[in-house]
Amino acid sequence: MTIMRVKSVEQSIRDAEAPEFRLRRVLRAVDLLGIGIGAIIGTGIFVLTGVAAATDAGPGISISFVISGIACGLAALCYAEFASVVPVAGSAYTFSYASMGEFLAWIIGWDLMLEFVIGASTVSVGWSQYLVEALDSIGIAVPDALTAAPGAGGVMNLPAAVIALVLTGVLVVGIRLSAAVTNVIVAIKLLVVLFFIIFGAFFIKAANWSPFIPPHQPAEPGAAGSMLEQPLVNAIFGNVGSFGLSGLVAGAALVFFAYIGFDIVASGAEETRKPQRDMPIGILGSLAICSVLYVLVSLVMTGIVKYDQLDTAAPMATAFQAIGAPWAVGLVSLGAIAGLTTVILILMLGQARVGFAMSRDGLLPVWFAKVHPKYRTPYRITLITGVVVAIIASLTPIDVLAEMTNIGTLFAFVLVSIGVLVLRRTRPDLPRAFKVPWVPVVPILAAVACFYLMLNLEGWTWIRFGIWMLLGLVVYFVYSQHRSRLGKGETIEEAAEEV
Ligand code: ALA
Repeated sequence: MTIMRVKSVEQSIRDAEAPEFRLRRVLRAVDLLGIGIGAIIGTGIFVLTGVAAATDAGPGISISFVISGIACGLAALCYAEFASVVPVAGSAYTFSYASMGEFLAWIIGWDLMLEFVIGASTVSVGWSQYLVEALDSIGIAVPDALTAAPGAGGVMNLPAAVIALVLTGVLVVGIRLSAAVTNVIVAIKLLVVLFFIIFGAFFIKAANWSPFIPPHQPAEPGAAGSMLEQPLVNAIFGNVGSFGLSGLVAGAALVFFAYIGFDIVASGAEETRKPQRDMPIGILGSLAICSVLYVLVSLVMTGIVKYDQLDTAAPMATAFQAIGAPWAVGLVSLGAIAGLTTVILILMLGQARVGFAMSRDGLLPVWFAKVHPKYRTPYRITLITGVVVAIIASLTPIDVLAEMTNIGTLFAFVLVSIGVLVLRRTRPDLPRAFKVPWVPVVPILAAVACFYLMLNLEGWTWIRFGIWMLLGLVVYFVYSQHRSRLGKGETIEEAAEEV
């Protein structure tokens, strides 16, 4: 069947070497760690930790971080193997093309747009909120009309659009500049997080940790609204309520957002000097560092303030206010603004690279894939990505769509984990600089764990996800299937003439 056609690993690597589509190989292991940490630490730890502690897990939120981190760690091992075998832009999309065929590759590429474009838009809106609050605290009031989407009482969210467009400029100018900007900002946010942990540790009161896992509270009958407003898992097992063991898992599904980003390291494979060695370091290293930080931050946060008071937009600031250190609040805001900036930058980087790979393969118009003659970045797809993110971020009250980022990412993790097994079977001969241990146990566990976290997302999220994927099917069968370079047997040189 044509839709199952597989693009060989060798062919992907050859395409990446064509001059018209060649990116610059400049990234080192430390840059990849920067990209990973830059994408990972953001809204999740700066905002969601407090909500998750207050409503789902109590101080046990640190255990939720461990659970979610284990699921991500299993998936990260699979990503690391893939990225070391197929060091080509496009991350999960390219891996799937090499292992499970064009149709599933398309599905995953389409799905990744949710993670990247909706994710970048969501974080741009969060960034704008933090900025407005920070300006407000120094006496500069920005009118609501310019800081909220039409559905949220404004005309447009201008700061959200501006940050998306400025970062698009950085991405166009070059991967080296993007990496340099990222490294500086990552250093700032790491310092802020470390400061929170070390300074905050002196104010921990052990009494706040007791009970560490608050007793299970069954859901009140009818409390959670219609089935579509509840996590799908409730529809299967009955509404389990919060706290207790089930609260730990619900908390894990929520804070999963905090870990998103290590996977994007893989999309920089084609710009990495020694991808076989450095990809696994970047992917696994950034995830490991952030996991440790997350557990410590959540322990300190719930140790300073009783968990039921943490349901705020800026829980770290709440904690510092509680110990009478208001000056530290400004510092945390700085860290958050810096933190969110790199998350937006890197999510857009991920989208540009996946879009680039899909266009170079002909599944999207090849025109998008043109590389800038001077900067050697895929500038057209980068600009389109930036403009779309700016429009969505400025006009959509987007909180509802945040879960979409999670479902899109988790689905990609499931497919990548299965892809590792498929590629081991179909191409056992390929050199694998990094190998997932205990195959098939680890990939199967990764897929099951990520799927279980998906079940913890709302019914509505599943419906929106289904609609988006159906749209993707239509585009594939109407356009991409017929334009596929692999399908037409078109060489990379012929494609180059079209751009
Ligand atoms: N992990 C990223 C964040 O928490 C997406 O903002």
